[in-house]
Amino acid sequence: MTSVSTIKRLCEHVGQTVTLKGWLYNKSSKGKLHFLQLRDGSGIAQCVVFKKNVTEETFEAISHLGQESSLEITGEVKADDRAPGGYELGVSAVLILQAVDGYPITPKDHGVDYLLSKRHLWLRSKRQSAIMRVRDAVAFSLRCFFHERDFVNMDSPMFTPNACEGTSELFEVPYFDRKAYLTQSGQLYAEASAMALGRVFTFGPTFRAEKSKTRRHLTEFWMLEPEVAFADLEDVCQLAEDMIVYVISHVLEHCSGELEDLERDRSKLECIQAPFPRMTYDEAAAVLVAHPDSEFTPGEDFGAPDETILSEMHTRPVIITHYPKEVKAFYMKRDPSNEDRVLCVDILGPEGVGEIIGGSQREEDIEVLEERIRIHELPREAFEWYLDLRRFGSVPHAGFGLGLERFVGWIAGVEHVRECIPFPRTIARLEP
Ligand code: 4AD
Ligand code: MG
Repeated sequence: MTSVSTIKRLCEHVGQTVTLKGWLYNKSSKGKLHFLQLRDGSGIAQCVVFKKNVTEETFEAISHLGQESSLEITGEVKADDRAPGGYELGVSAVLILQAVDGYPITPKDHGVDYLLSKRHLWLRSKRQSAIMRVRDAVAFSLRCFFHERDFVNMDSPMFTPNACEGTSELFEVPYFDRKAYLTQSGQLYAEASAMALGRVFTFGPTFRAEKSKTRRHLTEFWMLEPEVAFADLEDVCQLAEDMIVYVISHVLEHCSGELEDLERDRSKLECIQAPFPRMTYDEAAAVLVAHPDSEFTPGEDFGAPDETILSEMHTRPVIITHYPKEVKAFYMKRDPSNEDRVLCVDILGPEGVGEIIGGSQREEDIEVLEERIRIHELPREAFEWYLDLRRFGSVPHAGFGLGLERFVGWIAGVEHVRECIPFPRTIARLEP
């Protein structure tokens, strides 16, 4: 009986005959030999077909196989340093499930718009698969990090009756005989969950009807949001720093092959160690004002080009705190030592990555919060339940949101977030 293996597990079968099931990634032939590059999702392996080892028909049929033909290939596993991945298959049989001709993505250069329109197929490429594996490793290690620290995963709803981050970026959807909005952030619910379970995190899709066409913006993206009862701004800055260092060290340990496929400079990740540089908004503003390329106006929020400037100044993420209250959300707690500033934090990734984390200490005083809701012209009724959290056992608390795709983009060295989610949604793209 021949056992079935995946390419990733070939190392466990040296000297044995196994069957691999996958798709033809590439092929070259010379004389009495075919070299098949088979991919099965777990990796790519070279399968060598000698004319004398297979039937006449098989050898002939292989010469006509196009890219992405689906195959079951049986053969003996050999360790070979010259083979990609270190192992190859000496083929004794090939079962052709489907012979394919005219696969639309060839090794030649296609434009990114074309590739995005074929995203359902583009995911099969080596680079895109590597990014998806890094994404998976990041998401997995994020969960490990929080579970090791006794956080409970408490997910927030996607349909919400009101805004969290400002009304201009809401997707409105019909909800029976009323309106609902797709969530912009799970935070308000995470706060309720934190008052119930202490330390929680939400992790799921979030939606922004932002008309931004930058390399950092999606209309649907994943956010991980920890929320901690009895925590202050300093506590969550520390938590975010620890989390980033933890995840990067996990990826360095477990994704060597992927980082290699992505030609990612590991040294750029290896230097991500605590402590991260810190500045206040005012310090960052002073840097930008003095910078020849910045059009920054003091008092305003940093634009994407400003973030790029600040983030390129450091090899580690930079932690920026204490922004003006006018540019931040209603729920952020005012700085008691400066009423114009809020106890918030943005963390900018290095290498020009820009903001990957936004968070804050939350306003716990019901009167101040009611006032903030009024100033932000938010519908008071929709926030009654949220105000209950300040009526019944209000405590200092804080949290942040990490954008998964931006984090993955930084780690994987991928310029644009649209390649960091399986099926990206942007203003211009709803298909496939
Ligand atoms: O800074 P933001 O808007 O913060 C919040 O939503 C808070 N309620 C989070 C909290 O405190 N629990 O978003 C958090 C992060 C950003 O730093 C960014 O990484 C990501 O979410 N993000 C986006 N990622 C991709 N596309 C977009 N349009 C994004 N908008 C925000
Ligand atoms: Mg933000």
